[in-house]
Amino acid sequence: MRAVIPVAGFGTRLRPHTYTVPKVLLNVAGKPILAHILDSLVASGIEQVTIVVGHMGDQIEQYVRARYASLQLDFVEQSEPLGLGHAIWCARETVGSGPIFIILGDTIFDADISTMLQLPTSAIGVKWVEDPRRFGVVEVRDGIVTTLVEKPQHPTSNLAIVGMYLIRNTPLLIECLDHLIAHNSRTRGEFQLTDALQCMVERGETIAAFPIEGWYDCGKPETLLQTNRFLLDRHMRSIAPPNNSIVIPPSYVAPTAVLERSIVGPYATIADGATIRDSHVQNSIVGAGASVTAALLNNSIVGNNAVVCGSFHQLNVGDSSQINYA
Ligand code: UTP
Repeated sequence: MRAVIPVAGFGTRLRPHTYTVPKVLLNVAGKPILAHILDSLVASGIEQVTIVVGHMGDQIEQYVRARYASLQLDFVEQSEPLGLGHAIWCARETVGSGPIFIILGDTIFDADISTMLQLPTSAIGVKWVEDPRRFGVVEVRDGIVTTLVEKPQHPTSNLAIVGMYLIRNTPLLIECLDHLIAHNSRTRGEFQLTDALQCMVERGETIAAFPIEGWYDCGKPETLLQTNRFLLDRHMRSIAPPNNSIVIPPSYVAPTAVLERSIVGPYATIADGATIRDSHVQNSIVGAGASVTAALLNNSIVGNNAVVCGSFHQLNVGDSSQINYA
């Protein structure tokens, strides 16, 4: 089975971090978002992966090729982020006629992927949500999807599409995407995967609704921090020996990070080579090589190589920034 992972978006809601690091390479709980996803795919037996890249795609390709040499990897470019449907269409040359598993590159799923991959028909991950208007929404009868609508104003169901799709009839999906693109058929300005799936249903494809326990979006600072908390709760990661410091679990401290006279955690991720001195860092992500001195940080994201000196403030600091409250 081949997985297709679209990661070509700009990640505008995570600026300034995504000016220098692609969203999917931001560190949550000790490794990039994309690494969490690839690790779960490898654990489910996936051996072939197409990654659709755009914005800072070279960084993504370099990272993935260096760490996932055992996977059969293809990188295709989406030169403009014209929508998820368009991103998958860009991958058409690599997917062939076998089944594919599409998974968003910026979302971590609490789901049994292996079970989903064994379903005999196409399937999409769904979850009941209170207000489905900002999602693709499905209507389901006897477990089978009957209609799909992208971000409806007046939803007819509370079942949201959460970003995992098993496609058994890949040639039909490509045919439907070709149709959307040939007719410039867009919803909210983009070529939507939801519209292509609706076209598949209309052309007779059976698509099952597969219930997903939970999903953790990494698209905004607050959701990135929530996802960091969720992952730290689930997997306690390695902790370097503290130097006159205390690490409060759950936290991740990279072995090469340096802690001096500090309190780290709960819910702190401290990446490789970061230095925390005379500080208290909780519920925060501190990037590789960053330096935090005499600061009280809560609910903060500090980019790679950023320097923070000061006292208790809520920060959202981009790579190579310097903040000095002295
Ligand atoms: P999002 O819309 O959440 O991500 O797409 P984004 O566009 O990067 O974020 P913002 O809105 O600018 O902050 C979900 C996933 O689909 C990919 C994105 O890279 C992300 O992994 N995507 C989206 C594409 O690859 N191409 C597209 O045209 C749209």
